Amino acid sequence: MDYRTLGRTGTKVSPLCLGAMMFGAWGNEDHDESIRIIHRALDAGINFIDTADVYSRGESEEIVGKALAGARRDNVVLATKVHGTMGDDPNEFGNSRRWIRREVENSLRRLGTDWIDLYQIHRPEEDTDIDETLGVLTDLVREGKVRYIGSSTFPASQIVEAQWVAGRRGRERFVCEQPPYSILVRGIENDVLPTCRRHGMGVIPWSPLAGGWLTGREDPSKSRRAERIPSRYDMSLPGNQRKLETVRELAKVADEAGISMIELALAFVIRHPAVTAAIIGPRTMEQLESQLGAPDVQLSDDVLDRIDEIVPPGVNVNPADGGWDNPALRPEARRR
Ligand SMILES: NC(=O)c1ccc[n+]([C@@H]2O[C@H](COP(=O)([O-])OP(=O)(O)OC[C@H]3O[C@@H](n4cnc5c(N)ncnc54)[C@H](OP(=O)(O)O)[C@@H]3O)[C@@H](O)[C@H]2O)c1
Repeated sequence: MDYRTLGRTGTKVSPLCLGAMMFGAWGNEDHDESIRIIHRALDAGINFIDTADVYSRGESEEIVGKALAGARRDNVVLATKVHGTMGDDPNEFGNSRRWIRREVENSLRRLGTDWIDLYQIHRPEEDTDIDETLGVLTDLVREGKVRYIGSSTFPASQIVEAQWVAGRRGRERFVCEQPPYSILVRGIENDVLPTCRRHGMGVIPWSPLAGGWLTGREDPSKSRRAERIPSRYDMSLPGNQRKLETVRELAKVADEAGISMIELALAFVIRHPAVTAAIIGPRTMEQLESQLGAPDVQLSDDVLDRIDEIVPPGVNVNPADGGWDNPALRPEARRR
């Protein structure tokens, strides 16, 4: 595996990061199988795991913790996130000092570890001053509970603001951003990717297969995830029809290049010069196996040009995808 440096930290990570969102009630409820998938990924050379407190309300972190118990923990760069709603109390949510202080302890306990390598803010939060958030994160780094801090799905303007506040106030800075990115969702090429490069930040995209659209499945609406988030796979919506037509065009490109759609999609993401690692999200062992070979796939200029003809740079095929929100992260009560 050809390891890459996470931003300017000097820490080396594999070009595939194992996302743990599908381990637990949101995806695979079999803990033993989920642990076998994690171990297989580590044995294949993946050394980077991403989870979040909110994934299956803590269950994903618990599964990752069980998988890393013992000697495996030291060699894994372990990332998790905070921000999503974890309870009915209005303060069990968000980016405040009060909540992060409490929730980091919950994550450490569930993960069965003394430290988190990359602690990410899952979404920006309009009611919380970024200086408050960076302040508590800085304390956690100084206490040794967290090694690095990052953001997720921040617009470019807020990425810059966070860097500016960190420099001005002497806070720790976000070393990496976790945005949505795939052949179908290229919006971040306009501003987030160049901004991260200018600030020496790593970039670890989520949903590189567009949440199951770029898998070669004939009918993406058969995705397991359609049960949980129907609007993303509802074919009566024009944006999803456009995605279906685009996927059919891309399937021809993959066929002619002699690679699978999954390899085309993952190689496209990890070959972008601003990208550090693509976060894959297998639910089963077969799905993991189908993705492990992607870092060895080279896409020719001709293939990249054909992709650009089908989905121009900077374009989200379905404009609604640019601001993908996870409903679990955004309680109705907080929408004003
Ligand atoms: N920061 C954020 O806001 C955010 C948001 C989303 C995800 N993430 C992170 O990114 C990771 C990856 O996201 P993602 O799960 O959306 O990634 P993805 O790779 O775009 O989609 C994964 C889905 O693709 C389908 N799939 C994969 N391999 C397949 C195969 N061989 N055949 C058929 N279908 C296949 C499965 O869908 P089915 O389950 O339907 O079979 C699987 O759940 C997550 O685990 C999480 O760590 C972060």
